Amino acid sequence: MRLQVMSVSHEFRNGSVRPALEGVSLTVEEGQFVALVGPSGCGKSTLLRLCANLLQPTRGQITLDGQPPAHAVTQRQIAWLAQSPALLPWLTALQNVELAGRFHNVQRETRLSPREALEMVGLADAAGVYPHALSGGMQQRLALARLLTQEAALWLMDEPFAALDELTRERLTLELAEIWGRLRPTVVWVTHNIHEALRLADRVVVFSPAPGRLRADVAVDLPRPRVESDAAYQALLRQLRAALQGLPAADELLEAR
Ligand SMILES: Nc1ncnc2c1ncn2[C@@H]1O[C@H](COP(=O)(O)OP(=O)(O)O)[C@@H](O)[C@H]1O
Ligand SMILES: [Mg+2]
Repeated sequence: MRLQVMSVSHEFRNGSVRPALEGVSLTVEEGQFVALVGPSGCGKSTLLRLCANLLQPTRGQITLDGQPPAHAVTQRQIAWLAQSPALLPWLTALQNVELAGRFHNVQRETRLSPREALEMVGLADAAGVYPHALSGGMQQRLALARLLTQEAALWLMDEPFAALDELTRERLTLELAEIWGRLRPTVVWVTHNIHEALRLADRVVVFSPAPGRLRADVAVDLPRPRVESDAAYQALLRQLRAALQGLPAADELLEAR
């Protein structure tokens, strides 16, 4: 699914006017994986919510395959994953995935069954387990399995692994890169971590502090899986660090491992 963000600005108005995004233009091609990085409060989540039709831009326009986002929502083409996995505690892992499949693909013949989705995320043995008995990483895996059965064309992912410990986050990042390679949805991935961006993305888009504007758009033309010790990887890392240099509140991004 091709995503086009055209001169989009967004202001929140509750009492005062708070500009969150200013004149953002961005095209994500079908099947492309774009990472969005920038300091806290620069409008990353706002942009995802605009793409998912949860907010309407104050100015400018967003289209998905040439149509307004509302169309893709009714076609169930948008999948969403954030930090909190929002699982139903009274359903087993398998039932959580089955339920999502039922909501999202009533009319489509599902190519990926709930069990296959659990297998893909390494939870085949946990099908009968309830969410409270799963670790944070396993819960997020389960949320990912649920997302896979939706077979959505656009994945909007808002720092989905940020709350996990470093090892789990790295492992899940690698697994996700592999799954994306097999299914090739269009992905917009918000992250605080420039290494995560370089491991996953075809392109890294950097936002300036609030209100968010496009500051850099860096193509990651590296073979997968990405190897940190490669000279080309290190060169892109320097380029991203330079783009973030001098941004207030960018320390956490620059220090990310
Ligand atoms: N519902 C809201 N009402 C008012 N202001 C908001 C709301 N959501 C976000 N904001 C403000 O918009 C700006 C961008 O927020 P957000 O998109 O969440 O940033 P990010 O995800 O990059 O951290 C911030 O200044 C934030 O305080
Ligand atoms: Mg956010």
